[in-house]
Amino acid sequence: MRGLVVLVALACVATAQHQALIDYLERRLLAIEDRITLWQEQTTRYASELRELKQQMVLQLESLDKEKETLRTNLDSVGTRVDRVERELDYLETHNGAQPCVDVDDKLIEQQVTLVTKKQNSKYFKLTDCSDMMSSIKAMKILKRVGGSKGTWTKDTSGASGKVFIFNGTAEDTINEFADVKDFTRSQGLSLSTNLKLPSAWRGTGHVVYNNHVYYVTQAEEIMVVKYDMGNSSVTDSTVFPVQDHVPVYGLNPDTVMDLAVDEEGLWAIYATRQNERHISLAKMDSGSLDIEQMWDTNCPRENAEVGFVICGTLYVVYNTKQPGRSQVQCVFDVNDLVTSEEAPLVYFPKRYGSHSSLKYNPQEQLLYAWDDGYQILYKLTMKQKLEI
Ligand SMILES: *[C@@H]1O[C@H](CO)[C@@H](O)[C@H](O)[C@H]1NC(C)=O
Ligand SMILES: *[C@@H]1O[C@H](CO)[C@@H](O)[C@H](O)[C@H]1NC(C)=O
Repeated sequence: MRGLVVLVALACVATAQHQALIDYLERRLLAIEDRITLWQEQTTRYASELRELKQQMVLQLESLDKEKETLRTNLDSVGTRVDRVERELDYLETHNGAQPCVDVDDKLIEQQVTLVTKKQNSKYFKLTDCSDMMSSIKAMKILKRVGGSKGTWTKDTSGASGKVFIFNGTAEDTINEFADVKDFTRSQGLSLSTNLKLPSAWRGTGHVVYNNHVYYVTQAEEIMVVKYDMGNSSVTDSTVFPVQDHVPVYGLNPDTVMDLAVDEEGLWAIYATRQNERHISLAKMDSGSLDIEQMWDTNCPRENAEVGFVICGTLYVVYNTKQPGRSQVQCVFDVNDLVTSEEAPLVYFPKRYGSHSSLKYNPQEQLLYAWDDGYQILYKLTMKQKLEI
């Protein structure tokens, strides 16, 4: 019996110990469960934070991409603006008298040079004894920026007046006339000019002003040269240019269907036809009657030609590249065969510009009136004698 009591007592103790162990274990388990819950919570939080981070990264990468794009476009526009600023600087420079000069290359003029005498076999006889050829560009002056990217500006090339004429655009009918160059430069835009409305729209940039008349090119079905008298505001004469299948004369200036030029000897037409479409053709016109006196097929290619002009019966063709670089005289054609492209000096135009939409020679002043992307520029030329080889 005593043994039983002891046993029961022992059992009781054992049960109590057991219970304590179980309680302890339960507490531990609860604690562990708490920790696990905590970990789970933390893991979920980390996971969601990671997801958020990833999303943020993706967003930032996208915006970085966008910024890269804007940066690229900005760089592009900065490039163009640098070009602009360069020109504005040139403009200011020339206004402050510090003119960028180009070296004069007169090496070729030496003692044994004999002056040119007119070749007797030439069909075309000059009215003047002009024997000059272009030697180099001595100076450049940017006068103004007015009008669109393409156009023509010129003085009356006969010297009949000092008036300056602005032909803005390639298909307009209204000229702006200034009393003189001074008025043109000091004018706010075109404010000091008077408008002169032609009876029809011009085509391209091939016009000239000569002896108080505007000579301009129009194109309806055919190419016409119109002579307009500014004295009494009437068309004096017009003629269909007598060749078929015209093509634009300069490869890089498709707007200019035909170019007119004035030199010491009068009026010239620079043109091209499908029959001889790789090269530029030249014609001497009578400025009074608009008759064609003689025509030549030159060896000057149309490809990459930008513009041309005539001095003393010699055609100078200026070339450039599609992405405008430095303009350069690369081909010369002399109607009297006294100058060939090999003998002619390689003349570069100063600096890097846009492209010339027109270059008009003024024989009175030996200046080229250039329109370069809306800038009106004067190039002063140096001349030398054509050589008798
Ligand atoms: C010049 O012509 C262009 C289009 O060729 C035009 O946008 C511009 O307004 C004109 N400028 C002036 C001053 O007439
Ligand atoms: C304009 O003047 C020119 C000569 O100065 C003359 O030949 C022409 O007939 C005149 N035209 C008109 C419409 O008066």
